[in-house]
Amino acid sequence: MILVTGATGNLGKATINSLLNNGTDAKDIAALVRDETKATAFKSNGIQVKPGDYQDFESLKIAFEGVDKLLLISSSSAIVNRFNQHKNVIDAAGEAGVSHIVYTGFDMKDLQQSSMAEDVQYHAYTTDYLKQMAVPYTLMNNTLYADMIPIISGKNILENGISIPAGAGKVPFLPITEMAEALAVVLTTPGHENKEYVIAAEAAFSFAEIADILSEITGTTITYNPTEVMVYVGQLVQQGVSEDDAAYLSRFAGAIARGEFDTNKSDVKQLLGRATTSLPDFLRNLYSK
Ligand SMILES: NC(=O)c1ccc[n+]([C@@H]2O[C@H](COP(=O)([O-])OP(=O)(O)OC[C@H]3O[C@@H](n4cnc5c(N)ncnc54)[C@H](OP(=O)(O)O)[C@@H]3O)[C@@H](O)[C@H]2O)c1
Repeated sequence: MILVTGATGNLGKATINSLLNNGTDAKDIAALVRDETKATAFKSNGIQVKPGDYQDFESLKIAFEGVDKLLLISSSSAIVNRFNQHKNVIDAAGEAGVSHIVYTGFDMKDLQQSSMAEDVQYHAYTTDYLKQMAVPYTLMNNTLYADMIPIISGKNILENGISIPAGAGKVPFLPITEMAEALAVVLTTPGHENKEYVIAAEAAFSFAEIADILSEITGTTITYNPTEVMVYVGQLVQQGVSEDDAAYLSRFAGAIARGEFDTNKSDVKQLLGRATTSLPDFLRNLYSK
């Protein structure tokens, strides 16, 4: 039995789809959800729905009974709570006899030394905690979703251009669907115990390069303005993002500008047995709809 946590979120849903697409029987998949009303599609597909909250250790222990492989999708709760929630999941998995824990970490140059360490170091704590457990683990260190580009680049970028204080920093953006496919491979094939993978595209792009790609796709000039942080925050708030979330996204932009996501390492091609979708193809598909 494979259990996916965060199953009603973007990556959880996509991973369950990828498991079904790679031939995993629905009855061998379980979804941990905290709101069963969001899980009706899973139930009708024959997937076991298990109620559980990362905050509630007992709910996790019950949910993990009979589970063989567990995918811990990092929490989206308040950042201060995330490490303790992950610890609950890992401890409950250990007590329930889970034989393999897969964790979605984060691929940055150095989580602890990052300019946004307070936002991301819970991944380092979770990783360290997993490594000292007796249960085999796999670390899937995700880069930023390609799907985040429209969310972080400003309003109506095809009309207004890209506006984000990300300097010339590059990111190997990868579509969520391919992160999910890589997860499904690790959850259904042998040989991934105690390994750490970089889940990123093979090539990293700056926002100036993204503007050039979009210009080529649309046949109009899309500009890139590496705007001021305060202007960026104001722009996001105007789009309806909360002040806290806007400040959080601006810290991501700062980390991008410092090159903290830039890498030419990627294990996705090896896991999927094919190249990742190129960013121009992803953007063409997204903006030709
Ligand atoms: N790499 C990136 O670009 C990127 C971008 C965004 C987020 N992330 C991280 O990656 C994770 C997965 O991304 P996503 O897009 O799938 O996020 P998402 O759509 O927000 O999903 C997060 C999932 O975690 C569940 N969750 C949150 N707190 C929980 C708790 N206390 N107990 C049980 N479940 C809980 C949520 O449950 P509900 O459905 O009930 O809310 C949801 O299913 C995020 O949580 C975040 O840590 C990464």
